[in-house]
Amino acid sequence: TGPELFLPHRPNSKGWDITHRATLAEIDAGREPFKTHEWTGTPLSSAWQTDDTKTARPVLNPANHDDIVGQITWATPEDAKAALDAAKPWDASVADRAAVLRKIAKAYEDNAEEFFALLNREAGKTMLDCVGEVREAVDFLYFYAAEAEIRNPTPRGLWTCISPWNFPLAIFTGQIAAALAAGNGVLAKPAEQTGLIAHRAAQLMHEAGVPEDVLHLLPGSGDIGAALTSDARLGGVAFTGSTATALKIRQSMAETCAPGTPLIAETGGLNAMIVDSTALPEHAVRDILQSAFQSAGQRCSALRCLYVQEDVAEKVIHMLKGGMDELRLGDPWDLTTDVGPVIDAAALKTIQDHIATARDEGRVLHERATPATGTYAAPTVIRVNGIEDLEREIFGPVLHVATYKARDLDRVIEAINATGYGLTFGLHTRIDDRVEQVLEQVHAGNIYVNRNQIGAVVGSQPFGGEGLSGTGPKAGGPMYMPRFADMVVQPVPA
Ligand code: NAD
Ligand code: ALA
Repeated sequence: TGPELFLPHRPNSKGWDITHRATLAEIDAGREPFKTHEWTGTPLSSAWQTDDTKTARPVLNPANHDDIVGQITWATPEDAKAALDAAKPWDASVADRAAVLRKIAKAYEDNAEEFFALLNREAGKTMLDCVGEVREAVDFLYFYAAEAEIRNPTPRGLWTCISPWNFPLAIFTGQIAAALAAGNGVLAKPAEQTGLIAHRAAQLMHEAGVPEDVLHLLPGSGDIGAALTSDARLGGVAFTGSTATALKIRQSMAETCAPGTPLIAETGGLNAMIVDSTALPEHAVRDILQSAFQSAGQRCSALRCLYVQEDVAEKVIHMLKGGMDELRLGDPWDLTTDVGPVIDAAALKTIQDHIATARDEGRVLHERATPATGTYAAPTVIRVNGIEDLEREIFGPVLHVATYKARDLDRVIEAINATGYGLTFGLHTRIDDRVEQVLEQVHAGNIYVNRNQIGAVVGSQPFGGEGLSGTGPKAGGPMYMPRFADMVVQPVPA
């Protein structure tokens, strides 16, 4: 038996209820000054020195490339090395570190409208996603602060934290918060597409009291990430991104770091949902739409392959098409937009090529038209025989649909497990025994029954996958922060 783990009591972000008109109007007014604001981002590090060879590069809004969001100066590999030389663990008591993390959480909430605007204009996020993202970032800060106070961790030294563009505030913050809570120094490498959000967040972290020789922000390309994950002095690496990059990092850590240096890798998925003939179609279709198309499908948790029992397939697919036609595509600054752009032209091309192949093969069941400006991918449904037809994760608003016969359920589950991924899984059924059966058989980190399969909540639904989808421990769960520390997890009294 493992240690009994009690989640510490902690406050949550109070969040924003955007179904209230008054709240929405307040948010709208609060972000207005940032509608045309241009941010400036640079590395932030006690070792950072600017010089004339370092030119800033423009950051453009993916919804409208005429909208300049700001300018960012990237770090060079030499800057990364200088930061590694200068970085130090955080020499402060657990209580002081937790107090600073809570101060950062408060600063995020106080500056929420600026983050909404940045998330919207730099990452193309809709208001629903912006609100969820700031809230999740705040929750991570509170959660790991409380975890550190209860567990009194000993730091491992220096951690490199590498984050993706699709949760440029929440994942960026979650990794750093856990590393800092445990008392480590941090070298943070945000995704190249979202350096301005990271810069603003790191500024607030420094202002709240994290020393500049403890937290180093190094915006830049994958080369900077590579430089920061191949150094014998590292105490560990936290990475969230694609499975392919995780494998490269594992390789370079194996060649350069001490044996046993931990790598936490949270990666991609080929996520499935099964809808059987007892499911309530209206309910299932709402959850399919959210799981596949919210965030323009750019969530690692997003639904990629839907299996519908053939008896109800015609009805479910008909309703799904109707629901897709109701989705509002457009500029995510508009509060009514459901589906915004994908992150950049390279992402769009991959998605469009995939759809074009399916179209040539006569497998496109439904497709929306896209706005003329920006990098918009059309929400699309593609018919497949099964999940084995998907060669890789297509990171956009593309849903694959297969039908199955009731007697083949075991084979469907085998095929889902055979992908080797195991991130999220959804099930819609009203048969209790079937829920038990599927929970036992499916290999996935987060399994959702009769609901959507996105939007795990810190503390309540620790998030992470298995197999090709990640190493664990799950983010926002009790095992996560201890991995950043040199400690054995002990039971915590209730
Ligand atoms: P990516 O792997 O291309 O990049 C992620 C980060 O790694 C970026 O900061 C990038 O600059 C950096 N990087 C690239 N090459 C590197 C190298 N050789 N060494 C070190 N760092 C390097 O992924 P992405 O396109 O930014 O993000 C989308 C992917 O992330 C999807 O596959 C998605 O499923 C996954 N993701 C997973 C989770 C999760 O919790 N499991 C959450 C969000 C996203
Ligand atoms: N944690 C994010 C979700 O659950 C990726 O959708």
